[in-house]
Amino acid sequence: MEQIRLDELNEEKVPVTEPERQEYYINLLRNYIDQCKKEGKTLTYCVQTFGCQMNAHDSERLEGILEKIGFVQAPTEDADVVLYNTCTVRENANKKLFGHLGHLKNKKQKNKDMLIGICGCMMQQKENVDFIEKSYKYVDLVFGTFNTYKLAELIADRLMSGKQVIEVLPQPKENVENLPQKRKYSFKSGVNIMYGCNNFCTYCIVPYVRGRERSRVPEDIMAEIKCLRDDGVKEIMLLGQNVNSYGTNYMGESEILKENPSYDFPDLLRDVCKIDGIERIRFMTSNPKDLSDKLIQVIKENKKICRHIHLPVQSGSSRLLKAMNRKYTKEHYLALVDKIRKELPDISLTTDIMVGFPGETEEDFLDTMDVVRKAEYDQAFTFIYSIRTGTPAATMEQVPEEVVKERFDRLLKLVQDIAAKRSSRFKGMVKDVLVEEEDEHEEGYLTGRMDNNITVHFKGDKKLIGSIVDVKLTEAKGFYYIGELIK
Ligand code: 5AD
Ligand code: SF4
Repeated sequence: MEQIRLDELNEEKVPVTEPERQEYYINLLRNYIDQCKKEGKTLTYCVQTFGCQMNAHDSERLEGILEKIGFVQAPTEDADVVLYNTCTVRENANKKLFGHLGHLKNKKQKNKDMLIGICGCMMQQKENVDFIEKSYKYVDLVFGTFNTYKLAELIADRLMSGKQVIEVLPQPKENVENLPQKRKYSFKSGVNIMYGCNNFCTYCIVPYVRGRERSRVPEDIMAEIKCLRDDGVKEIMLLGQNVNSYGTNYMGESEILKENPSYDFPDLLRDVCKIDGIERIRFMTSNPKDLSDKLIQVIKENKKICRHIHLPVQSGSSRLLKAMNRKYTKEHYLALVDKIRKELPDISLTTDIMVGFPGETEEDFLDTMDVVRKAEYDQAFTFIYSIRTGTPAATMEQVPEEVVKERFDRLLKLVQDIAAKRSSRFKGMVKDVLVEEEDEHEEGYLTGRMDNNITVHFKGDKKLIGSIVDVKLTEAKGFYYIGELIK
């Protein structure tokens, strides 16, 4: 975008408090967009997201701000504003960004007014920002995970100064509520209940790029969910790096907490279940070290809570778990799985597993295989350990690549065999399915999700998208089912 004079910007009039300040900048930019429209130019945007649910949710906020300004969503990176919301959890995630950026250079040569922004976890690391500043001069905006809410202000800064704008905060400054959101699905949404992480697993970069744990007060969470409900949302996913430690470091005043200072995640779940109109509640992610009996009980008592727990194990070796600082042992983890299976027999259990953590021996790896056999996961996400500079494990002795690769292949095969066997256990049953979209591969078919998070494809009218229907599971296909709609 060309350098512009935002004439209306009057320093004295810019509010100092949030969210009023951002609303001011949104309005200011909207005037500029309206002017462009009058001249026959519609300005478009495209947000590309890497990484986890948390990032996907942040991107919906970024899109919400862009829409409120008046930009129109474009299906590809042929747009006037292109934003990359990055992830840095593994080296692969970093590489993806640079691939995309390379392609954009040509596009920007054709559309000189194009504005390129990079934000998210990768930008919280100084070496990445320095590299972009030095080698990617055509990038216009760089910001981090603690100031996504400032997108409008940062765009205005860029347009007025004509210079690259870089603003990365080392830690969060304030909690800004009530930001606009553009939901990918009209009927489901993520809701942050907490930010950051205090666990410092020795392989993980997240505590460094997302900061210390901060919990939103229950009133703010509930108000957001009620708004979503009024807007047609049926399913919500409560988001946090470790939802089981919800309740540390609250941001804001709360009557509920005054009455009950030991209010915790199961209490929050119980309260969210009471909100009429919300039919399904999910949560992500649970750290095994503090999944309580109280939580299991609350799930058992409330049918609205989906029968799915994502319980990352990372490794089955107690020795490695100690080196990872996970604070549980193989025995503790398996006992927890047994308890969950006994109390919640219809639960679907998924996990994350890492192979090749520094010092991993064949014996350690066989412990991981043993846990996979015993826990019988419905699905497991497997990762090769990736060095993250700045974490304690980065300086430990690494396992040779070919050893890791061979173990990874063995693990993947086991995980797939078990998941295929496991998931066929629902064959022949009739299940509630939330219809999510048209099937990408088969015309006239729809794709929906059961509460255990497994997908089903079945013939049906697209008018059903967003509703919960009964589907008979006729064919088990490993990770998904083919079904028939019950009229
Ligand atoms: N290398 C490989 N995988 C990692 N994960 C987190 N950090 C690393 C790393 N350095 C995996 C964990 C986590 C998931 C989100 O990513 O399994 O649960
Ligand atoms: Fe999510 Fe972690 Fe990746 Fe950030 S680094 S996007 S928090 S997985």
